[in-house]
Amino acid sequence: MKNRFPRKRVFITGAGSGFGKALALHFAREGWKVATADINAEAVEKTAEEIRTLGGEPLVIACDVTKLKDVEKAGRVVEKAWGGVDIAVNNAGVAAGGKMEKITSEQWETIMSINVKGVINGCRVFIPILEKQGKGHLVNMASSAGLACLPEMSSYNLTKAAVISLSETLRTELRTKNIRVTVIAPTFFKTNLMDSFQCTDERQRKMAQSFFAKSRTTSEDVVRATVRAIRKNRLYVVPQLEGRFVWLTKRLFPETFYNTVGFFYKKGIADLFLGV
Ligand SMILES: NC(=O)c1ccc[n+]([C@@H]2O[C@H](COP(=O)([O-])OP(=O)(O)OC[C@H]3O[C@@H](n4cnc5c(N)ncnc54)[C@H](O)[C@@H]3O)[C@@H](O)[C@H]2O)c1
Repeated sequence: MKNRFPRKRVFITGAGSGFGKALALHFAREGWKVATADINAEAVEKTAEEIRTLGGEPLVIACDVTKLKDVEKAGRVVEKAWGGVDIAVNNAGVAAGGKMEKITSEQWETIMSINVKGVINGCRVFIPILEKQGKGHLVNMASSAGLACLPEMSSYNLTKAAVISLSETLRTELRTKNIRVTVIAPTFFKTNLMDSFQCTDERQRKMAQSFFAKSRTTSEDVVRATVRAIRKNRLYVVPQLEGRFVWLTKRLFPETFYNTVGFFYKKGIADLFLGV
């Protein structure tokens, strides 16, 4: 990492909480310059305070990733302060569940604008900055939900599949510019993601809460896997074993995979397992 990025500059969206915060603190501990961006100004200031305690001097940027102007401003702040950035992480996101026909237009608008448009805005602003300096690494946060789709999660699955597709496209498209691309696809790990959870009935909230409660993965585990993937220039980060197993099974036997998921769903076996 040191050889590739001697200037050690990283920009992270959604750095006020969960994975984004853990990643910001990791880089700060490693002596990196960290730009923390989040829509929640109070939360991101708390992350910044922790970075200062570690001896860092963070850039604190209030930024709504759905607004291109905000992300452009973030890009300008980073360029002015540091003359560029080495790693740009499009992490901000929200979660949702719901039966397809019941998801409202407002719920679609919210999740599409944050999870998809937010990442698009980050790419549009930060690719030219990385390109100007002739190298860099772009990291996009997706989810295992984008690799193998479970029922009653259509909006979330769709947005995360879009982030995977975008990242796979950029992995090749940006090769000529010496910009590397990594996409993160974890299953459930404990963060504050449920605070933003939208659903069409409480059943989905209970299911998601149960998945979170059963998870033994921490943000720090996902950070470690992500940093390793950046160092090794890997396209995919699928940190958990169950995520890798599900992804492999789906790729090898897609029809069987979805027939089995459908069978379990119809029989209500997932409900029994999750206690909903
Ligand atoms: N926690 C999990 O189980 C899990 C699994 C797979 C993927 N993810 C993804 O990880 C990413 C980070 O989520 P987390 O789990 O750390 O949740 P979190 O809720 O703890 O953190 C998300 C952060 O994003 C910020 N944010 C939300 N909307 C924003 C906007 N419009 N502009 C800027 N910032 C915004 C929030 O204020 C919050 O600080 C998300 O993209 C999520 O989909 C999480």
